[in-house]
Amino acid sequence: MTVEPRASQLLRPETGDLGRRRLLGWSLRTSFGALLAAVVYPVVRFLNPPEEKAAATDEADAGGVSDPEFLEKGYRIVRFGSEPVIVLRISDTEFHAFSAVCTHLACIVEYDRARRQIACNCHNGQFDVQGQVVGGPPPRPLTRFAVHLVAPPGSAPRVIVSRA
Ligand code: FES
Repeated sequence: MTVEPRASQLLRPETGDLGRRRLLGWSLRTSFGALLAAVVYPVVRFLNPPEEKAAATDEADAGGVSDPEFLEKGYRIVRFGSEPVIVLRISDTEFHAFSAVCTHLACIVEYDRARRQIACNCHNGQFDVQGQVVGGPPPRPLTRFAVHLVAPPGSAPRVIVSRA
C-alpha cells in the first residue's frame, strides 16, 4: 500500500518550513537576549555605580547678597562640584555654609528661618545655625564651608563658598 502525499505537502517545499523555524528560533533568542540585557544592565549599574568625581573647584558662587531666594527663604542650596551646600543668610553681612547632606542617612537639609534651625525632614534631625546637632538622630554636625563676601568693582557683593 502506498501513501499519497496530500496536495498541501506537495505545494510546500521543505526548505520553506525549515527557514521559518530558523527564523522563529533566531527571533526568540534575540528577544530573550534583549530582555536579559534590559534587566541585567540596570542591576549591574545599581550595584556598581560610576564614581562621582570630587569637586573640581575650589569655590562656588552662591549668588548676590540680595539674591531674591536669600531674601525670601533665608537660604540657598548651591552645588560645590558634586556636593550640595546650604548657604544661610543670617544678616546682610553674615552668611554661613554647610554641606546640605544630613549626617544621619544623607537626606538633603533645609533651613527653617522662623526657628533659626537647619532641619532634616527625613527623621526630624535638627541643627543650629552653626551646624551643630540640636535634635534628632544625626550623629555629627554638618560639615562647614567657608564663606567670603566678594564685591566686584561696581557691583553688589557676592557670596563665595569654599572649603573651610
Ligand atoms: S537623614 Fe537626616 S535625620 Fe535622618
